[in-house]
Amino acid sequence: MEHLLNASDLDVDTATLILDTAQAMSDAMTGREVRKLPTLRGRTVVNLFYEDSTRTRVSFETAAKRLSADVVNFSAKGSSVSKGESLKDTALTLQAMGADAVVIRHSSSGAAHRLTQWLDGSVINAGDGTHEHPTQALLDAFTIRQRLGRVNGLRVAIVGDVLHSRVARSNIALLSTFGAHVTLVAPPTLLPVGIDGWPVDVSYDLDATIATSDVVMMLRVQRERMGDSFFPSIREYSRRYGLDGARMRALPDEAIVMHPGPMIRGMEIAADVADSPRSVIVEQVANGVFVRMAVLYLLLSGEKGSGI
Ligand code: CP
Repeated sequence: MEHLLNASDLDVDTATLILDTAQAMSDAMTGREVRKLPTLRGRTVVNLFYEDSTRTRVSFETAAKRLSADVVNFSAKGSSVSKGESLKDTALTLQAMGADAVVIRHSSSGAAHRLTQWLDGSVINAGDGTHEHPTQALLDAFTIRQRLGRVNGLRVAIVGDVLHSRVARSNIALLSTFGAHVTLVAPPTLLPVGIDGWPVDVSYDLDATIATSDVVMMLRVQRERMGDSFFPSIREYSRRYGLDGARMRALPDEAIVMHPGPMIRGMEIAADVADSPRSVIVEQVANGVFVRMAVLYLLLSGEKGSGI
């Protein structure tokens, strides 16, 4: 594979190779005084971000630098995009400056795929509209495997604004590939139409789901993609679908709480839950660097057999 566009493109062997490589990256970094490997010296990674990001952008930058690649950070804000320059011309301009890989986040579903038709180098999807966010799903699977020892057979509840969530779509695809049982828990207004064919169960009742979940993955309500049409009210949403201390205590003993971030404390997740020992939210962020190192390494190192 030349690009990483969708979690749904990954078969179990390829996804396992990425997680195992991420584990090797983590092991290689542990205890090192200089936290850098020479693997991608002389290669250039461009972060092309048309939407805001904290975790993903910084994580890709850190990952590329730890592999000794040069990194160019491009944000649409403050660029010639504001003068009307197209995605194609922006991408070709960055390629002309020597990009070996482009990491793109864009508000349009399919933007990463479109880029592959114009560029010679590898394209990595860092989130396209409401479609996919494959490295988030990979770091989530890595974190689940690290904490619970496996993904196969686990019961994962994905809770909240599934309708607008590329994180949910990528996780549904990848966790199902790994053999997890996924239940979506959301009000009907925040579920997409046409989920009948998805490999998931659906529940409108968080309390009924929580006692049998090994993993609870909370999603942020994406108000920026909704206009004024949010329903139910924030208070009602939080009461019915928020993860508070009482619900957390109803989880099985070993169950973990996840959130891709950014989280809205007090809305979908209570502060004491986010900061509790069950929460792996900070581990997700840390693991994101190793997973992105693995993806960059497998796409760019050029070593025989390492391509994904
Ligand atoms: N999880 C995630 O994609 O976070 P950012 O929007 O901060 O990158």
